[in-house]
Amino acid sequence: MHFRRIVISGGAGFVGASLALALKTAFPGISVLAFDNLKRRGSELNLARLRQHGVGFLHGDVRCPEDVAQWPAFDLVVDCAAEPSVQAGIHGDSLPVVANNLGGTIQCLEAARRHQAAILLLSSSRVYPIERLNALAFREDATRFVWTGSDQVPGFSARGIAEDFPLAGRRSLYGATKLASELLVQEYAWIYQIPALIDRCGVLAGPWQMGKVDQGVVALWAARHVFGRELTYFGYGGSGKQVRDLLHIEDFCDLVCRQLERPAAWDGRVYNVGGGQDVSASLRELTELCRTLTGVQVPVRGRAEESPADIRIYLTDARRVATDFGWQPQRSVGDILTDTLAWIARCQSELREYLA
Ligand SMILES: NC(=O)c1ccc[n+]([C@@H]2O[C@H](COP(=O)([O-])OP(=O)(O)OC[C@H]3O[C@@H](n4cnc5c(N)ncnc54)[C@H](O)[C@@H]3O)[C@@H](O)[C@H]2O)c1
Repeated sequence: MHFRRIVISGGAGFVGASLALALKTAFPGISVLAFDNLKRRGSELNLARLRQHGVGFLHGDVRCPEDVAQWPAFDLVVDCAAEPSVQAGIHGDSLPVVANNLGGTIQCLEAARRHQAAILLLSSSRVYPIERLNALAFREDATRFVWTGSDQVPGFSARGIAEDFPLAGRRSLYGATKLASELLVQEYAWIYQIPALIDRCGVLAGPWQMGKVDQGVVALWAARHVFGRELTYFGYGGSGKQVRDLLHIEDFCDLVCRQLERPAAWDGRVYNVGGGQDVSASLRELTELCRTLTGVQVPVRGRAEESPADIRIYLTDARRVATDFGWQPQRSVGDILTDTLAWIARCQSELREYLA
């Protein structure tokens, strides 16, 4: 494998830690360092398993040049440190999301430039404008909203949103930091000849996600069933019919392993990454599946008021990444929930404080 020394910023988080362990397993000879300020509650739980698998850990803040200067020599940085909630800054301070996300990427890029190293950016489907997505024609079925597929918009088909979907429009502070980060990654790749790749991910899910109301919906849903707590459908009349495609974190890690083995592709290109139509669910459908898998029925409330960042339907058209890397998601919505529920059940006493 081309990349031998990897730093993962946000390496104790859900994506970062999962990736660190997957890379160490797939390529045992490499060194992986997880760098994290442990700001996300629950990230500290990952430290023991990182250590057990030979992944190094360095505590620090990616916004701080002095902390980033402590990184050992590396040839790839994976930029996973972020405030990952699309709700961030909407009802309060904007600085945490802007400084962590864009500020963090700038420090990763500067470090990559100094070391002539590659960068992989964890971007988001939230770069696509909210109003453009919500304007797409849809119908309301019994358990979910469904695109009719009739709109003539570049990058849109009933199977999902491709990379050339229009980017003009408002997208949330979170989405704006991700798009700004993407642009900077591409500029650094061009000016400084840094190998770079951008994965624009939809909803990633699976074990070790510290789900909370504003981020990590699948883990939140699973946890509420295990711990017998109430759930709420926010927006869209409280119907719970909003739809997302999901991607099992292990499918994402499989993709990154493939990407690492094809350094020729690292020219700053962007890939939409997600499970697509076949691995999608509405909130109602998630509740139903949780009930079936756990035998537990929790109270569910509907709250009609919408957040400015709400999106009715998002499905990824991942054909470009599938073709370029010979990759397909292998795990269904049922697999994602089964694995997440099994993890919560296994670590119930430890997780109660974080997920209940
Ligand atoms: N989880 C998803 O569904 C999803 C989807 C699309 C994109 N992403 C992106 O993937 C990346 C990882 O997300 P995640 O789900 O693992 O989130 P997470 O919150 O679980 O992990 C992020 C980690 O970054 C750390 N961190 C935050 N600010 C930091 C700072 N200033 N310095 C050092 N560490 C810092 C946190 O402590 C946490 O451990 C983010 O960039 C996110 O925007 C996630």
